[in-house]
Amino acid sequence: MSNIQGKVVIITGASSGIGESAAKELASKGAKVVLAARRKDRLERLQAEIQSSGGQATYKVTDVTSHKQMKDLADYTLKEFGQIDVLVNNAGIMPQAFLAENKVEEWDKMIDVNIKGVLYAIATIVPSMRERKSGHVINLSSVAGHNIYPGGTVYCGTKFAVKAISEGLRQEEAMNGTNVRVTNISPGAVKSELLETITDPTMKEGMEDFYQVAIEATSIAHAITYAIEQPSDVGVNELIIRPTVQVG
Ligand SMILES: NC(=O)c1ccc[n+]([C@@H]2O[C@H](COP(=O)([O-])OP(=O)(O)OC[C@H]3O[C@@H](n4cnc5c(N)ncnc54)[C@H](OP(=O)(O)O)[C@@H]3O)[C@@H](O)[C@H]2O)c1
Repeated sequence: MSNIQGKVVIITGASSGIGESAAKELASKGAKVVLAARRKDRLERLQAEIQSSGGQATYKVTDVTSHKQMKDLADYTLKEFGQIDVLVNNAGIMPQAFLAENKVEEWDKMIDVNIKGVLYAIATIVPSMRERKSGHVINLSSVAGHNIYPGGTVYCGTKFAVKAISEGLRQEEAMNGTNVRVTNISPGAVKSELLETITDPTMKEGMEDFYQVAIEATSIAHAITYAIEQPSDVGVNELIIRPTVQVG
């Protein structure tokens, strides 16, 4: 039996892109997926699509920047399924701009979604995994969590933070023998709605050009699947997945 069958998997940012693709793939392999994001209509549609293909899915409208809503998501999942096996911390935004433009509101939003969202999920969802001495946290960092480029400074900062949080969480869980696995996934250019979060038209045009080589979101869903399906004593800790032709 696959190590995915029957697992309860919470996916944040499940309403599009990588999250949506991972939800479909994991559900097709027998996971019970809990879809979380802000756009209810998209979650409803995805739930229906998964169910019509014979998969199990439920959803809870959740803004990851709210600690209370994250706690509600954890409580809802535990009430519905009794346990949480996997958390995919995938929600993220990527407004790009040079620092000199002083887009302070965008910096705040990126920090709130990309960093605090991940921490709130760890605060509200991981305790039940520790109690059961079983669980898996998969965080979506980025190649931008390894390399810095002009215009991406704050986004890169948030993704470096995700990488640091992943490694710190991994070490602490290992040290305490909780059997909670941690995987940090760093995609390169992937087709999704992420570029829609860029408000600067010149920056957006430049990124669209760069993203011409982007690979399908399913490539990252496969990586998530790979990390989960390993035996429970095997932690896949770091994965970098770029288009073959992406240089930086
Ligand atoms: N695409 C790439 O090239 C790429 C590369 C490296 C890393 N990544 C990372 O991969 C992750 C997924 O991105 P994607 O490419 O799939 O982009 P996407 O299609 O834009 O998906 C982002 C998801 O995040 C959700 N989200 C945004 N703000 C939220 C909030 N406050 N609360 C809850 N959900 C929120 C969105 O849903 P709602 O708007 O419905 O809330 C959406 O489902 C992100 O962390 C991104 O940084 C992507």
